[in-house]
Amino acid sequence: MIPEEKVREVAERISIVEVISDYVPLRRAGANFLGLCPFHGEKTPSFNVSPAREIFHCFGCGTGGNAFSFIMKIEGISFPEAVKLLARKTGIEIEDRQLTPTEKKAQDEHSQFLRINDLTTSYYRSILQHGQEGEAARQYLTDRAVGEDITEAYRLGFAPDRRDGLVKHLKNNGIDLNLALKLGVLRKSESGWYDLFRNRLIFPIKDARGHVIAFAGRVLDTSLPKYINSPESPLYHKSSVLFGLDMALPSVRTGNAIIIVEGYFDHLALYRAGVQNVVATCGTALTGTHAGLIKRHAERVYTLFDSDIAGRKATVKSMELFLEQRIPAYVISLPSGDDPDSFLKEHTAEEFISLKDKARPAFEYFVRSLLAESPPDSVDSKVRTIDEIVPRFRKIADSVERDLYEKEICRLLGITTHAFRKRMGGGKLSSQEVPADKDKTEQPADNVQETLLALLLYYPEARVKIVQTGLDNIFNDDYLELARTALDYLSDSSDTHDFSQLAEIVEKPELKSLFSKIMVSDQYLADIEWRAVFDQCTRSHEKKQLSSIKEIAARLAVLDQGSEEYALLLKQADALRTRKSKL
Ligand code: GTP
Ligand code: MN
Repeated sequence: MIPEEKVREVAERISIVEVISDYVPLRRAGANFLGLCPFHGEKTPSFNVSPAREIFHCFGCGTGGNAFSFIMKIEGISFPEAVKLLARKTGIEIEDRQLTPTEKKAQDEHSQFLRINDLTTSYYRSILQHGQEGEAARQYLTDRAVGEDITEAYRLGFAPDRRDGLVKHLKNNGIDLNLALKLGVLRKSESGWYDLFRNRLIFPIKDARGHVIAFAGRVLDTSLPKYINSPESPLYHKSSVLFGLDMALPSVRTGNAIIIVEGYFDHLALYRAGVQNVVATCGTALTGTHAGLIKRHAERVYTLFDSDIAGRKATVKSMELFLEQRIPAYVISLPSGDDPDSFLKEHTAEEFISLKDKARPAFEYFVRSLLAESPPDSVDSKVRTIDEIVPRFRKIADSVERDLYEKEICRLLGITTHAFRKRMGGGKLSSQEVPADKDKTEQPADNVQETLLALLLYYPEARVKIVQTGLDNIFNDDYLELARTALDYLSDSSDTHDFSQLAEIVEKPELKSLFSKIMVSDQYLADIEWRAVFDQCTRSHEKKQLSSIKEIAARLAVLDQGSEEYALLLKQADALRTRKSKL
């Protein structure tokens, strides 16, 4: 742990423009500096750096924060590591604060875990490379055309057919076997310790930074189970790990989308063919956590699943996750019966790329495969199809996209838009309306609330007024949360406020983005008559609340009174009314 004074000392010594200039060419544009965002692919610059506020913000992808946030993100390191890196640049010496005994224990255990996984990886690796027992595995890899360079890139290994080979290896290296037990690479029975993996080809599973956190082992023949994986452990949570992310990131950072495949060997086949922006799930269905992880790194995602029924199901499920997180998703379809491995055995990488270029938007793929399964040749089948479509259709965040799909769906089904909307539960949904999963989707930018937040930050008198009116009468959702955090910070510290420090305190990515956006936007910094702006803002906010009550009322009128949505909307209308009466 680094003492807080040291962090502040480093923060004062550095200049965010200099720090970022080491990675991104910047040019001056008004009060800010401007460049091409390193966190998403873009051709016109929307990456802003404010030297006055020591904050950066990208209007393209929403990433923002202070110099520490920038280093954490671009180097893929933790906060203390980022502080240390910048301290070294400025010649400040940092001595770690003495850890508490509990912290010390956790840290020691963590580094032991990593050491165990390293020892395990190199043990399996050496058997694959030179061990006599590795002969069959070497032959297997040769048969599958996996060369030395690839086995090295993945750090593949082989677990020999021995009861306790790894047990002995770890013991000889002074490892506390009980820790290895926690990682699941060893097990314990009445008759002693034994290895989890036996007679299996080993794929180390690495985190985004390349640390080995678990293993998968494949049999060399057709026996079952084909794979076994390390169990969940303090290092490994399979629902949040994407295999190969560490190898994909360099390519993804240059603006490439992420391609998701199902299997370890699919990943390997693509990587070997030079397609590096690929990740695989570790034998589980894709989760919301995976989708979030993808969103953090890429702007677009392609799924490349089997063309069988299970693969189609997985594709539709993943589409829902991507719709919820608003990540544009496309589906790559291989010729039926092929997986990436078999496809690339017969075809070139260029042929794969041209398939990828033909990928269809996931929603379109979904609608088409539904229609292929049950052609809309009767009223019954049309109704069934619509009912499959409707809950997913609701998740499309973009209103233009929604309009286009609505037309397309109606055309394909041969129904009128009126009929479709009726089935949707009355009325047309506009993007302002309350979406089905309210808390999962982002809120559209609200300029009024943004301006009020800026007032709260920059004008102490406005701050007093805002507090008097009551924060939750003025703000809602993310805006309210950010206002609370900012207010806590501002009333806590002395009168010289280091806004860039606030960027560290705000941890939630959505809030961080909102905050940095406000900070780099010049329009809020000009000398304004805060009182007039405040009055204008609260009036227009009030109006908006009023109109959303109207919208809700219109929707309530057509909903089934017993439905969950009805109860939810009713509650929202009540809350709005109370809030309005306080303004
Ligand atoms: P090859 O068939 O050798 O090309 O391997 P693959 O990695 O492509 O496997 P496959 O297409 O059969 O399965 C896709 C993924 O599902 C695998 O990479 C594993 O993550 C997972 N998987 C397959 N079989 C098993 C199994 O028996 N147990 C577990 N835990 N996972 C499996
Ligand atoms: Mn496969």
